[in-house]
Amino acid sequence: MKQYKIAVVGATGMVGRMFLRVLEERKLPASEYFLFASARSAGTTIEFMGKKHTVRELTEDAFKDLGVDIALFSAGGGTSKTFAPIVAASGAVVIDNSSTWRMDPDIPLVVPEVNAADIPMYKNKGIIANPNCSTIQAMVALEPLKAFGLKRVIYSTYQAVSGAGMGGYSDLENGLKGEAPKKFPYPIAGNVLPQIDVFLDTGYTKEEQKMIDETRKILGLPELRVTATTVRVPVFHGHSESINVEFEKPFELSEVRKLWESTEGLIVQDDPAKGVYPMPINAADTDPVYVGRLRRDFSVENGINFWCVADNIRKGAATNAVQIAQELIRQWEA
Ligand code: A2P
Repeated sequence: MKQYKIAVVGATGMVGRMFLRVLEERKLPASEYFLFASARSAGTTIEFMGKKHTVRELTEDAFKDLGVDIALFSAGGGTSKTFAPIVAASGAVVIDNSSTWRMDPDIPLVVPEVNAADIPMYKNKGIIANPNCSTIQAMVALEPLKAFGLKRVIYSTYQAVSGAGMGGYSDLENGLKGEAPKKFPYPIAGNVLPQIDVFLDTGYTKEEQKMIDETRKILGLPELRVTATTVRVPVFHGHSESINVEFEKPFELSEVRKLWESTEGLIVQDDPAKGVYPMPINAADTDPVYVGRLRRDFSVENGINFWCVADNIRKGAATNAVQIAQELIRQWEA
């Protein structure tokens, strides 16, 4: 099997460091790794794959002559906008964690368990987009339910501070010691913030709009009725979501459970009598998506409510991106 050259851009960040851990765990067929960040951390070293790697500065010429095959990006939207096309032009396939390219109709937006078949679209621009963290976990749970015809989806999220990067994490850590926030507009310790990202003219936040748009694109249902309220909660790791779904067709709860039980990457934790349901504290630092609290929504003809939890930095970001890289290599080798 060919050995590939893999780069990580944003290697010093919250998601970037998890890229490195997941790459160590999954052992891709790689001959060489290159780590990039901004000028601020260029020259520092990071222990990875049993050896010290010097962090390189991302510049316009940084990828020239390196022969990189796959570049995992998580260095902010602005960096992706400028550098993803440059890195793609150097011959690498960019797997980008920012929101910059997600809704470009020429760029695939991929959750491997759901739409790995869209990956070959990377040939258009040399870029594959990694979806929003909250969207990814919902997709794994919703895809199998297309069997009943999805009519409407309502998301209410409870999102961890790690989703806002190192700055978000520090705000909760320091806020618990009584310090003022630096990243969030208000204290997050002992509080919940019904705002993630900026507000749009519609009154929705950008995070909410991302969930709506990305759900339609990934499920291939451009007309699906979807709405969302996204909320930041004082949890370090793991996003939780209350999801309400209305189906076109009649269904049995047992059928939903059966479909979920045979879904790759999904674990059903649902035994209310024993107090068993998914929680971020248990999902933290693991790769699956967890579902539970499944019950009928008696306010509509064919509907359910359920609770969905995943580690937002793993399945919601780094793991999903590395899974895309693995699937890309699998397709190249096929
Ligand atoms: P650096 O550590 O040098 O600032 P987080 O979202 O956790 O804050 O991480 C952001 C990541 O993106 C960091 O690795 C950061 O590197 C990197 N980054 C930010 N701006 C740039 C840039 N202009 N070029 C390359 N990497 C960048």
